Amino acid sequence: MDKFIIWNSSLKGEVEVSGSKNASLPIMAATLLTDEECRISGVPNLRDIHTMIKILEGLGKEIKFQDGTLIVKSKKSRSYTAPYPLVRTMRASFCVLGPLLAKRKKAKVSLPGGCVIGPRPVDLHIKGLRELGANIKIERGYCLAEAKSLIARHIFLGGEFGSSVLATANILMASTLAKGETIIESSACEPEIVDLASFLKKMGAEIIGEGTPLIRVRGKKSLGGAEFTVIPDRIEAGTFLAASLATYSPLTIKNTNPLHLTSVIEIAKKMGASVKVNSFSLFIKPPSYIKPVSITTLPYPGFPTDLQAQFMVPLSLAKGVSLVTEKVFPDRFMHVAELNRMGAKISRSGPYAIIEGVGSLYGAEVMASDLRASAALVIAGLAAQGKTEVLRIYHLDRGYFHLEEKLKKLGAKIKRER
Ligand code: UD1
Repeated sequence: MDKFIIWNSSLKGEVEVSGSKNASLPIMAATLLTDEECRISGVPNLRDIHTMIKILEGLGKEIKFQDGTLIVKSKKSRSYTAPYPLVRTMRASFCVLGPLLAKRKKAKVSLPGGCVIGPRPVDLHIKGLRELGANIKIERGYCLAEAKSLIARHIFLGGEFGSSVLATANILMASTLAKGETIIESSACEPEIVDLASFLKKMGAEIIGEGTPLIRVRGKKSLGGAEFTVIPDRIEAGTFLAASLATYSPLTIKNTNPLHLTSVIEIAKKMGASVKVNSFSLFIKPPSYIKPVSITTLPYPGFPTDLQAQFMVPLSLAKGVSLVTEKVFPDRFMHVAELNRMGAKISRSGPYAIIEGVGSLYGAEVMASDLRASAALVIAGLAAQGKTEVLRIYHLDRGYFHLEEKLKKLGAKIKRER
């Protein structure tokens, strides 16, 4: 297993953000809605993308992936199974359920199982598809779904923690081939859902309201192929923003859409940073000291849960006490114990974390537990005095394209060891 060895570093210069993993995955699943060729560009070369490629190949797609472009063609296959060994490694694979059901009338998709950020139910996915007329059974760890045809409905998709991104993706994709007009109420507003809707529209779908909590879809008999470029990864951009603050380093973050990061930029400004934006870049000048803030994670356009761990690092260095409230995944605090091993003073109670700013951190051996927690530990390693070893960095390879190369170009002292 690989590990990172990191020394205290100052960063400087420009970094280019890659295409969005979380936008790419449902868009790849959407290619199941057609037998025609699709070309998707701007796709990051990551482990999760390769997992989705394997799932689609198992479902009869022929895929070429070169220089960030996926060319997806169809072989004559009626396969409808996404098996456990692949689905368990990546929850996003569950969003092949909707398109498979809509196009092939049948789907057998493994239930994704638990994960370290807490329970990850799929009840909303199943509820939505049942309302569209699917017959769904859970048997031996698999979700078995069947429907001769899907019938449009008015579906309320809100759950205990608000909207669900991938449930919205699943129902949106399925409803493009349903009979009549589907209304998805309390739909997720995330930019990745807007991107999926844009791709579906290029395939011929009729959708309005994406990016709002009420999406309307007029079902079509069939969809065609499409060419598309995915949006830049807003979570990667936010991760570099957190690194800039934690290391007190000015940075220019290129190939990003600042409109997708409004809540994050607001928080960075409250922490004392100067953030300037133009259409595709962020220019960050960190403050001379970091002010404490309160952060509450919420569905978009709120502060993203996927940046909560990374922002805990600069907050650990702040002058004063900060509060983080996790309202999307209330158990997502695995990084707290590891940051405390580096000298942070964070206490947790339920969905709250109280962070007493300590001014500086020190290097230690720490263990990465999930993708975003791993990014937080890398940032902490750059900010800490001395040497930090981050073990189990395979999580990072799932979601950050060339992270260490990008950091090295900015002047980070970081190396990968086996
Ligand atoms: C997506 C993102 C993930 C991000 C999350 C929240 C991808 C590939 N992953 O995950 O990086 O952290 O959005 O922004 O895009 N819930 C239910 N029932 C369901 C589904 C979800 O109760 O059927 C709950 C979840 O437990 C959680 C909340 O809804 O508390 C939001 O989760 P959801 O938006 O579904 O996350 P994902 O779409 O899986």
